[in-house]
Amino acid sequence: MPITAILGAQWGDEGKGKIAAQFSKSSDMCARFQGGPNAGHTLYVDGVKLVFRMLPCGILYNTCAVIGNGVVINPQMLISEVEKIQSYVPDILDRLVISNSAHVIFPSHIERDSHGHADTIGTTRMGIGPTYEDKIARIGIRTGDLLLPGIFDKISAESSHVINQFVEVFTNCFSDTSLLLRENLDRGLNVVAEGAQGALLDIDHGDYPYVTSSNTTTGAVLTGLGVGPRDIKAVYMVASSYMTKVGGGKFLTRAPASIEEFLQTKGDEIDGATNKMRACGWLDLCALRYAARVNQPDGLILTKLDVLSGLPEVRLVSNSGGTPHEHKLVGWSDDIRSVRRWCDLPKQVRHFISSVEEEINVRVVAISTGPETDSFLSQD
Ligand code: IMP
Repeated sequence: MPITAILGAQWGDEGKGKIAAQFSKSSDMCARFQGGPNAGHTLYVDGVKLVFRMLPCGILYNTCAVIGNGVVINPQMLISEVEKIQSYVPDILDRLVISNSAHVIFPSHIERDSHGHADTIGTTRMGIGPTYEDKIARIGIRTGDLLLPGIFDKISAESSHVINQFVEVFTNCFSDTSLLLRENLDRGLNVVAEGAQGALLDIDHGDYPYVTSSNTTTGAVLTGLGVGPRDIKAVYMVASSYMTKVGGGKFLTRAPASIEEFLQTKGDEIDGATNKMRACGWLDLCALRYAARVNQPDGLILTKLDVLSGLPEVRLVSNSGGTPHEHKLVGWSDDIRSVRRWCDLPKQVRHFISSVEEEINVRVVAISTGPETDSFLSQD
């Protein structure tokens, strides 16, 4: 059972990238299983900010990185992403394996995602929804199809140049990734499955229609990689210590302007994919309880606790009889970024964590206290 899944528990932007990278350090492989360039997983490596769109960020540490069949790929963006990461991973093309069943995003998909209904949802305008639409309608083009004779008859002249370049760069990367994973899982290798977006954006279980067009919860690991339930060793949900949201839809725990501004500024809450400022609010325990129900995690990892430092009071919001109820907790002023032992955390931070655990009945197995990869603490 060697797969560890890292899943977002909210509306994305929980800081999953850093957590997936942390787990990847001790794993053999990493894999993305859904979503596409609408994700923007940010990592700070030697002080440099790296944003991962389609590549799993464990590629920095693993010998093999998989882009699974459940992912949708923008060819031009993947070429650029690989070029950027190549200076950190010179043999990136030897380590990357792309499912030959992953669907390709074309300019026509982006065009369809740029007006009308997409505007109401507030999508990232990256063609994600239309590409999954064509997949479900059975008219999409997959990476493996790009190698078939006559395929260019189905591709617009506008796209041919990029597709040619894409095939040239990645031909040796296209593979049956479900088979590759099966062989490696059977050899006992460990895999980190890196989720994108979060439970509240899941096409089936999120706040429909204000959702993305893929499943983002536990089941998607299986369908998006072509593995079985017995391959999963652990599922960890990642949640930010406060809520953030980019697109449309309800946001019940949005904070008053002064608190929101504090969180936006201190948390650098600018969306990696769209460059939009994220709306911010207090941690919604009902949402977390719901995410735990649909994901059945083995544990929760709370991120961005350092951002709350300096607030005299912090709040957790639950729901009593349909009305949001705010629990007021004493805040903390200490900078916790350099704390490396659980027992050295201020008692208010530990109280915040244990209150979350009690309310959602999931153990907080670790926390992140800053953007750097080593600001990570496991609970004893
Ligand atoms: P789409 O995924 O581009 O179709 O956008 C659908 C909704 O999901 C919009 O509200 C987006 O802002 C949101 N969304 C998609 N990907 C992410 C993400 O990685 N982080 C946060 N929100 C996202």
